[in-house]
Amino acid sequence: MLRTAIGSLELDSPILTASGTFGHDPSALAFLQPGDLGALVLKTVTREPRFGNPPQRLAEFPGGLLNAIGLENKGLEYWRETVAPQLAAVPVPVVANAGGHSTADYVAMTAAFDAMAEVAAIELNLSCPNVEGGTQFSTDVAALELVVQLCRAVTNKPLWVKLSPNVASIVPFAQAAEASGADALTVANTLIGMLVNWRTRRPVLANGTGGMSGPAVRPLVLRLVWETARAVTIPVIASGGASNAEDVLDYVVAGATAVQVGTAVFRRPGVISEIATDLRRLLQEENTSLQELRASLVWPFPLSC
Ligand SMILES: Cc1cc2nc3c(=O)[nH]c(=O)nc-3n(C[C@H](O)[C@H](O)[C@H](O)COP(=O)(O)O)c2cc1C
Repeated sequence: MLRTAIGSLELDSPILTASGTFGHDPSALAFLQPGDLGALVLKTVTREPRFGNPPQRLAEFPGGLLNAIGLENKGLEYWRETVAPQLAAVPVPVVANAGGHSTADYVAMTAAFDAMAEVAAIELNLSCPNVEGGTQFSTDVAALELVVQLCRAVTNKPLWVKLSPNVASIVPFAQAAEASGADALTVANTLIGMLVNWRTRRPVLANGTGGMSGPAVRPLVLRLVWETARAVTIPVIASGGASNAEDVLDYVVAGATAVQVGTAVFRRPGVISEIATDLRRLLQEENTSLQELRASLVWPFPLSC
């Protein structure tokens, strides 16, 4: 009932983990029932190890979470030798997520992931707001086109491009990614935000600003998913504040093929199975399907295109 395809990638479910919010070892999946998770999207890996930003790196607010982890990871070599072998035991397709500082970094990461049998698809994180230059490729159409074209040239695996919400219009970036060979678009990374402590007169995060995620961003990302889905023909993967089955179906109606769940997992590690159970029930109660609901949003007045 929940089976979904993102291009050539066949999934048991439209619910995916969001990069950076879920572990990679099979024990992290112990909270989930078989068939509930569509794919495991892993944290961004960069060519060289990164310590990330200094603490404090995470702060909660009533609408969600602000993070400035800064892409902490042990680098590609560690990943290849230590993480990749563990992925063979993961019972769902694994999506590796690539980060970088230059076009060459992204191409090297894509080529490396392409060579790993454990990796079913590659997500390019072109949109991390918490590292210097992290959004240079998702806020400049020409830079995005070049990096996607060059990454496309080194892999036949499904190539997903994760876009930034921190732009005036996402449409030119979405269309450029599609024209450059992306197989799907993840909409979107976190929104740049800030929390301050008025007593200390300082930002709460050591980085000053951070990426907003969780329920507060959902209406904004829903609008971006809708705009993107109308502008491209490749699948759109929603990522922003989904925490229950109704949220997932809202995204599907707006045009999403799949939905990543991130911040909600921190509160309820089993939330993906809860969502899957409710999704099946809702689809049955309404006698409908994901295919029927996808991009079925009825706009209150005629649109020009
Ligand atoms: C603590 C934390 C770490 C994250 N790390 C990454 C990352 O390494 N790479 C990436 O592409 N996105 C990262 N993200 C963004 C999420 O993948 C997701 O796009 C975003 O949080 C919106 O979804 P959510 O509201 O369901 O969390 C991170 C988000 C959080 C909260």
